[in-house]
Amino acid sequence: MSANLEEKPILRYDPKTFGYSVISDAPEVDQTHKPGEVYFSEDVMKTEIEEIFMKEWLLVGRVEEVEKSGDYFTHQVADEPVVVARDKAGNIQAFANVCRHRGVKVAWGEGNTKYFSCPYHGWVYGTNGELVDAQYLDKSKSFDKKNCSLPKIRNEMWEGFIFINFNDDAQPLMHSLEAWDFPKTYEPYQMGRLKLANKFAMDIPSNWKFLNENLTDIYHIAVLHAATFGPAQPLEGYRYKTFDGGYHGRFTGGTLVPEGKSLFGPIPWLPEELHSGGFSSHLPPNVAWFPRFDYVSIGTNWPISADKSVSITYQLFPEDHFSQPDFKEKAQQYVDFYRAFMDEDTEMIDALQKGMKSRFYKPGPVSPFEAGVMGTIKHAVDDLGHG
Ligand code: FES
Ligand SMILES: [Fe+2]
Repeated sequence: MSANLEEKPILRYDPKTFGYSVISDAPEVDQTHKPGEVYFSEDVMKTEIEEIFMKEWLLVGRVEEVEKSGDYFTHQVADEPVVVARDKAGNIQAFANVCRHRGVKVAWGEGNTKYFSCPYHGWVYGTNGELVDAQYLDKSKSFDKKNCSLPKIRNEMWEGFIFINFNDDAQPLMHSLEAWDFPKTYEPYQMGRLKLANKFAMDIPSNWKFLNENLTDIYHIAVLHAATFGPAQPLEGYRYKTFDGGYHGRFTGGTLVPEGKSLFGPIPWLPEELHSGGFSSHLPPNVAWFPRFDYVSIGTNWPISADKSVSITYQLFPEDHFSQPDFKEKAQQYVDFYRAFMDEDTEMIDALQKGMKSRFYKPGPVSPFEAGVMGTIKHAVDDLGHG
């Protein structure tokens, strides 16, 4: 465990009542939740897109998704379609997925290709983004092939995760990751040695910030998730640390499958003191980390409109497990369980979103169990001068 994680025990689990009580050294909290408007105003969302999503490092995928030259996947950040590809020379590159002729997406879905061929008028781009061919343009005076490459988007990797940044002036990725203690906290996991088994998207009927908040809110776990992972994740001995924009939490208990019982056993290189439970963290602006002792789940939360978002989940396992004959079936159980508790969450965040518009809604007090929520929301609301 990272020495940098200043651990504060805050909760005591009472197995008889299945309730929690705050122990004597729990920090006092003097905050209220945010006003409804920050969750449904399109103007607030426009600022968030410009000031957060167009300026910060965004986790968009894994290197395994672009393992071979020609592999590519597409992604959408608000109005910006993106394609990430491994080019002929073996470099991972990210481009605006916007044809230089009339703006149609040149890459669709994911796959492997030698060229991206725009489906509208057939302009052809290499996997390095350069325009290779554009039919009948030799007579067009304004056409200059050199100026027609797909616009490049900065990208950097950390432990097999691909991040992009639309802002050419942003500090290097490691600057933020280190400021928020991610490399040290997750050093024992060596996530670069893990491999992507499952990636899936879920439509969420709420503002993207509710998705962030919900995934950092431990207050609801015993109540809402009593039928799924609540009993396997007792909050006894829960430790956490918040920072502006996020938090790290450490707890003991099971993993995210029925009854919390791992189908694989601990990740082989994890030290023994981490062979129980796991972590939950929030990396600003939109990544929920759920490393467990046997696998790692990461969720990214993307705004679609003020009251709609998409959650993309990545599940990683040690590479050795992939050769087990029943690996696929077992890994699918991790997907099914994740979807089951996300269904529980989705119903509630839909209800939250609706509640925000009631004239009777007044922001309520924050409990000490919602410390992570406050860490998360500071970045997206307070720092932008909203709420
Ligand atoms: S829009 Fe792509 S070739 Fe015309
Ligand atoms: Fe939840």
